[in-house]
Amino acid sequence: MIPPEWDDTPIADAARRAARIQNPDRLTLARPPRTRRITIANQKGGVGKTTSAVNLAWALALHGLKVLVVDLDPQGNSSTACGAEHRIGTPSSYELLIGEKSPAEVIQGNPENENLFCIPATIDLAGAEIELVSMVRREYRLCDALSPSYLEREGYDYVFIDCPPSLGLLTINAMNTATEVLIPIQCEYYALEGVGQLLNNISMIREHLNPEIHVSAVLLTMYDARTKLSEQVASEVRNHFGSAVLENQIPRSVKVSEAPGYGKTVLQYDAGSRGALAYFDAAVEFAERGDYLPLPETAPIGVAPELRTGSSN
Ligand SMILES: Nc1ncnc2c1ncn2[C@@H]1O[C@H](COP(=O)(O)OP(=O)(O)O)[C@@H](O)[C@H]1O
Ligand SMILES: [Mg+2]
Repeated sequence: MIPPEWDDTPIADAARRAARIQNPDRLTLARPPRTRRITIANQKGGVGKTTSAVNLAWALALHGLKVLVVDLDPQGNSSTACGAEHRIGTPSSYELLIGEKSPAEVIQGNPENENLFCIPATIDLAGAEIELVSMVRREYRLCDALSPSYLEREGYDYVFIDCPPSLGLLTINAMNTATEVLIPIQCEYYALEGVGQLLNNISMIREHLNPEIHVSAVLLTMYDARTKLSEQVASEVRNHFGSAVLENQIPRSVKVSEAPGYGKTVLQYDAGSRGALAYFDAAVEFAERGDYLPLPETAPIGVAPELRTGSSN
């Protein structure tokens, strides 16, 4: 039963939000004026890139928005969570990058969510970094295949590109296909390690390859309210990135870590869990505030030296 609006206890509030997840027809979110193309990047592994890509995508798809997840990580974790086939030989992002297949041949639908689509990654992608080196327009292979006009024509509202934990050619291809970068930052020791390098790379890509690319959101993940450390990292990140950081942060939650084991997003696995609700709210916030263009003087180009080593000191 959905609690009445006058009941403003946290439990009632959580129950109402969970009910919204389970009854998506009751929801709407405005379509963005153009397809929003977002790269999820952080060269650190295990910070929540994949989890964020699939859960934000799933949440927006529940709102009736047409969403595409592009898996550019050979591990294929976002393909698994999106319920996409990704055994060896499955037409995937690899064939798209090397120009062997068209988008229509590699995009898969989702049996449980008609608005969610996925370009899976197979292990073939593991060799792509090297194969791409000798190819023409090696930095633009993905963008050439998955052009903005194609995405517009197909009616996609959001495209999330899940990157591998490196700053190689796959990530560069992702950044040249997107205009926005969403950086997930784990509320842990050394959270900001490497973020300076990521920001420098984004600046370089903006200067030389894709003038439109910019950081449009920073998402704090695995926030543990019981530790002082999480709080410290969160406030350092907020100080540094200002309003680029989404208000909604994702708590560390067992349900979030269990969901991939079932080939599901946490929104499917346990809609009422704190993790699911947090992703749901973060997705709404990300959609409602639109593309966030930092002012040039606040653009996070470099990271202050004291942040380079993370929050451990
Ligand atoms: N909020 C969270 N709470 C608990 N575990 C999480 C959370 N977010 C991610 N995880 C787990 O942490 C691991 C790394 O997350 P993942 O999204 O795969 O990171 P990345 O793609 O950056 O390598 C996974 O096992 C995932 O299930
Ligand atoms: Mg990943």
